[in-house]
Amino acid sequence: MEMTKEIENYCIDHSTLPSQVANELQEFTMAGVHGSNMLIGKMEASVLQFLINFGRVKTVVELGTYTGYSALVMAEALPADGTVTTIDVNPETCAIAQKFWDKSVHGKKIRQILKPGLEALKELSGKFDLIFIDADKNNYSHYLDWALEHLSDSGLIVVDNTLWSGKVLNPGLDKQTDSIINHNLKAKNLQGHKKTLLPIRDGMYLISKSWV
Ligand SMILES: C[S@@+](CC[C@H](N)C(=O)[O-])C[C@H]1O[C@@H](n2cnc3c(N)ncnc32)[C@H](O)[C@@H]1O
Repeated sequence: MEMTKEIENYCIDHSTLPSQVANELQEFTMAGVHGSNMLIGKMEASVLQFLINFGRVKTVVELGTYTGYSALVMAEALPADGTVTTIDVNPETCAIAQKFWDKSVHGKKIRQILKPGLEALKELSGKFDLIFIDADKNNYSHYLDWALEHLSDSGLIVVDNTLWSGKVLNPGLDKQTDSIINHNLKAKNLQGHKKTLLPIRDGMYLISKSWV
């Protein structure tokens, strides 16, 4: 079966979805912010919220804030003392994010670090329950290394865009594609971890420690 827009909408229609504020943020971004195709969208948002709830997640690190949609939907699924630390380099899109987070009761769970990913990660210590990788593709393997070191025992790494519009089937196309291919190979070959690459939106690679 081909995943058509109609089928995706049917799935969305039968799923628990983000809040009205998150919808407004998504619509605002799609209406006029450059690069809005980067948004995770409703289906992936629903999956992230489900995973956070199911896994009793309390602490999240996100690489790639953009306009703050994914950070907000993750914050919505966290308990009152949960935290999302989200990292991005773009002050304009981060300002939009903050404006919408301020409209939500869940916004206070979110902490923004405005720095390049690799630099920002040096400020973070301890372990995290969910690490969402969705920033510059050329650093995916470095972000994965950091995530593996900082994942709590029952934690989950989620890596977005791991199908890269299907370009992962064609090595040598460009640097970003090859970086994602290398990342995916590294994930595949991890020992002591369970992995599943889901064909949701542009590919969600889920990685957790194996406990058996
Ligand atoms: C795919 S978007 C994130 C989308 C967001 N997770 C969402 O769905 O709402 C990728 C983001 O990575 C950011 N980015 C690019 N290079 C970066 C870097 N070196 N460090 C941190 N963020 C970076 C971009 O500014 C962009 O906002």
